[in-house]
Amino acid sequence: MRIDILTLFPELFKPFISTSIMGRAIENNLVNINTHNIRDFANNKHRQVDDYPYGGGAGMVMAVQPLYDALDHVIGLHDLKPTIIYLSPQGRVLDQAMVADYSRHTNIILLCGHYEGIDQRVIDKYVDQEISIGDYVLTGGELAAMVFVDSVTRLIPGVLGSSDSILEESHTNHLLEYPHYTRPSNYKGDKVPEVLLSGNHKEIDRWRRTQSLKNTLIKRPDMLSKAELSDEDQMLLKELKEHK
Ligand code: ADE
Repeated sequence: MRIDILTLFPELFKPFISTSIMGRAIENNLVNINTHNIRDFANNKHRQVDDYPYGGGAGMVMAVQPLYDALDHVIGLHDLKPTIIYLSPQGRVLDQAMVADYSRHTNIILLCGHYEGIDQRVIDKYVDQEISIGDYVLTGGELAAMVFVDSVTRLIPGVLGSSDSILEESHTNHLLEYPHYTRPSNYKGDKVPEVLLSGNHKEIDRWRRTQSLKNTLIKRPDMLSKAELSDEDQMLLKELKEHK
């Protein structure tokens, strides 16, 4: 997958793309991430990228010229038609199904806005999808772009060790995950649930499923309507609700 990020602050991405799982994914050529400074494309003397809004009002708007030229340049770097995403609080709110879908794309351009936003003509001409990372407003699209890149990259085959852990993790099946424990089994009297030490994998699976349902029921009951639940799950849920 090739991802190009258009931003006024490319330096923000440096530690992010060189550390931990992202760094390794890039080193192993599983994803290719390039940042481009929009300011480099401004053709005025002061390399100004924003201007006052037509019609008046507060704030500045990112102007068309640097964005048109930056996008034309970056589109030209792709051998296949890239999907162009504008990170914006007006976008569709990112969820795990969208993340899984984007992890199968090969060519993506991310456009980060700043100030009050970008000239609408850029969106109309170039943008395929506006994406938001939640119903709150950031100072710019960079953090949202990192959230997008992080969540999508970890689903690219080979990036994480085990694909089983992806199937089980929170949000993949519209259920939250069960709790995790590691050694020691008793730390200052705080003990790991006995069943996990039993070696009985059927019992462990059942316990984990119950915990997963319980976590979802308590923390995110809104998710349950989308989850695929077996008859046994339904019974477990009924019991959990009665004891809530
Ligand atoms: N830019 C500003 N706020 C944003 C948000 N919530 N999601 C994506 N991009 C943004």
